[in-house]
Amino acid sequence: MLTEIDFPITLALDPESDIFDPCPQVTPRYLSDLKMMFKDQQAVDEILKEENRLIYEIRYYPFRTSKSDMALAVTRIFPGNIGGEYHMTKGHKHERDDQPEVYYCVKGEGFLLLDTLEGEFQAIPWRAGTITHIPPMWAHRVINTGTDLLVFIGVFHLSAGHDYEIVAQKGFSYRVYAVDGKPALIRQT
Ligand SMILES: [Fe+2]
Repeated sequence: MLTEIDFPITLALDPESDIFDPCPQVTPRYLSDLKMMFKDQQAVDEILKEENRLIYEIRYYPFRTSKSDMALAVTRIFPGNIGGEYHMTKGHKHERDDQPEVYYCVKGEGFLLLDTLEGEFQAIPWRAGTITHIPPMWAHRVINTGTDLLVFIGVFHLSAGHDYEIVAQKGFSYRVYAVDGKPALIRQT
């Protein structure tokens, strides 16, 4: 027996703006929200004196039915850097250890950083069309190293949960900087 939430939902992603419709939730992430993520706190403070820059925004749609709980998120990361460190997402690990995610890069160029926070690390070069399956044990963060927007789609279960705190505490093993105009991965001690 179908309930009222058990019917298909179709969204339209505009290929120009990469904004989908209808969209029940938009979450902007400003520099002030992400202050502690960046290494160069002096650069953060200098920029904040001038502007509270929008680093990225997430558009989100939860697909809840009576028997399932998938979700779609489209993230748009604006180009730029903070003290040479490229704009990036906050990064998180899933709270549940049995919940993976699929990321699909729609537009732009950069890296997907994957880190178990227990010694294993990978930096996956990303460009339009790259699709990566993220196993449950890996924290994930996306870096925009290009001069235009980087847009990606994430598909996951709502029950996965987001643990941002563990990333804030342990940090990723590498940061990505613009060095002579090119991205360089710098090991963190
Ligand atoms: Fe995730």
